[in-house]
Amino acid sequence: MVKSKQLSRNGYGNKTLCRLESERVTLFFGPFKRIIHVSNQSYRVGIVGATGAVGQELIGLLLARAFPLAELRLLASARSAGRTLDVGGKKLTVQEARPEAFDGLDIALFAAEGAIAKALAPEAVKRGCLVLDKSSAFRMDAGVPLVIPEINLDATRSHKGIIASPNCSTAVALMGLYPLHQLFGVKRVFFSTYQSVSGTGADAIDELEAQTQAYAKGQPLPRKVYPYQIFQNVIPQVDTFGADGYTGEETKMRDESRKIMGLPTLKVSATCVRVPVVRAHSVAISAEFVKPVDLAAARQAIAGFAGATLVDDPANKVYPTPLDFSRQAKCGVGRLRLDTALDNGLSLWVSGDNLWKGAALNSIQIAEAMIKAGIPLKAKEAVSI
Ligand SMILES: NC(=O)c1ccc[n+]([C@@H]2O[C@H](COP(=O)([O-])OP(=O)(O)OC[C@H]3O[C@@H](n4cnc5c(N)ncnc54)[C@H](OP(=O)(O)O)[C@@H]3O)[C@@H](O)[C@H]2O)c1
Repeated sequence: MVKSKQLSRNGYGNKTLCRLESERVTLFFGPFKRIIHVSNQSYRVGIVGATGAVGQELIGLLLARAFPLAELRLLASARSAGRTLDVGGKKLTVQEARPEAFDGLDIALFAAEGAIAKALAPEAVKRGCLVLDKSSAFRMDAGVPLVIPEINLDATRSHKGIIASPNCSTAVALMGLYPLHQLFGVKRVFFSTYQSVSGTGADAIDELEAQTQAYAKGQPLPRKVYPYQIFQNVIPQVDTFGADGYTGEETKMRDESRKIMGLPTLKVSATCVRVPVVRAHSVAISAEFVKPVDLAAARQAIAGFAGATLVDDPANKVYPTPLDFSRQAKCGVGRLRLDTALDNGLSLWVSGDNLWKGAALNSIQIAEAMIKAGIPLKAKEAVSI
C-alpha cells in the first residue's frame, strides 16, 4: 500500500510522451529541452525490477525522454507478477523475470539486486539483449565495461552483451571530479558522502516516511531497513564493513572511480554516510592534482562539462543542495575553493540525483549515446559468465 503511494511519487503523472518508431530523443537539461536525431529504429526494452525505486524512474525517464520504444516489458519478482503499473496513462502488466521473459527484447535494463543480475543477465544476453545493469554484480569484471557516457563511452565498443552502470555515489562524485581531472590530472582524492535513503531502495523511503509520521504522533519509531533510526540521525555506514575498516560502498567508490577514469593506481579514501534526505546524494570532495590548480579555470571546466551545472556563488548563499538537484539530469557542483591541506588541492561539493544520474538516467544515457554514435547494441561475441 505504501509502495503504491510511493510509485505515484515518481512525478511523471499521466504524461503520454512515449512515441513509437521515433526518430528523435528529447533531452532535458534543467529547464532546457533539446531534441537530437538519433535513428529511425525503435527498440524492444525490458525493465527488470520495474516495481522498485530505480525501475520506476526508468519507466518515467524512458517516456519523458521519448526513448524510441517498440515495446516496454515490465519484469519483477514472482510476487509482483500480474500487478499493473501505469505507463504514460496505460496499464501494463508486470511479468515474472524468468529467462524466457527476455525473448525478443533488444535492451534489458536491470534494476534489481546483484544476485538477480548474476542469474538473469547471461540469460538475457543469450537471447540477444544488450544488458545495462545497475547492480554491482559485474562492475569490476574485466570483460564488462563500466560506463558514464560523459567520461568513457568508448568503453562500450568492446561490450560482450553486458554493460554496467556505476554506484550512485561514484556517478555523482565524478560529475564534479572528472572535468577537474581532465584539466589538472587527479593524484589523490577524499570523498565524504551524504547519501539519501532512496539509495537503499523503495523500502528505505517508506522507513523514513513511517518514522517521521510516528514521531509526529508520539509513537515508537518503526525500524527494519537500517541498523539505527534514520529520522533525525546520520549513519556512518553504507553497506557492510570489510577487513580494512572501509564499507563496501567506500570500496566501490575507490574501485569504480579508478576503472571509469582509467586511473588504476589513483589514491582514493571515502567515508560514506546515510542522511535523512529522501532523494539526491551529495559528496564533499578534496582532491590533489598533478598540475597547479587555478580556480577560474576549474570553474570554467565544470561549467563546460556535459554532466554538471556550476552553482557557485557562496557570497550570495548559492551552492547546490539535494533538493535543488532532485530530478535533474545534471549534477550541481559548487563550493569550489583551494584546499588548504593538500598541494595543488581543490575542495568542492556535488549534489546529484542518485535515482537519475546515479542509476536510471545513466543507463538510459548509455543506450542513447551508443545509438547516436552508431555503436552496435548486439554483442559480436556474447559474454560467458
Ligand atoms: N536506489 C538507488 O539510488 C540505486 C543507485 C544505483 C544503483 N542501484 C542498484 O539498483 C538495483 C535496484 O535498486 P532499487 O533501489 O530500485 O531497489 P528496490 O526499490 O528495492 O527494488 C528492487 C526491485 O527488484 C525486484 N526484484 C526482487 N526480487 C526479484 C527477482 N527474484 N526477480 C526479479 N526482480 C526482483 C523487485 O521486485 P518486487 O517488487 O517484485 O519485489 C523490485 O522491483 C540494486 O542493485 C541497487 O544496488 C540503486
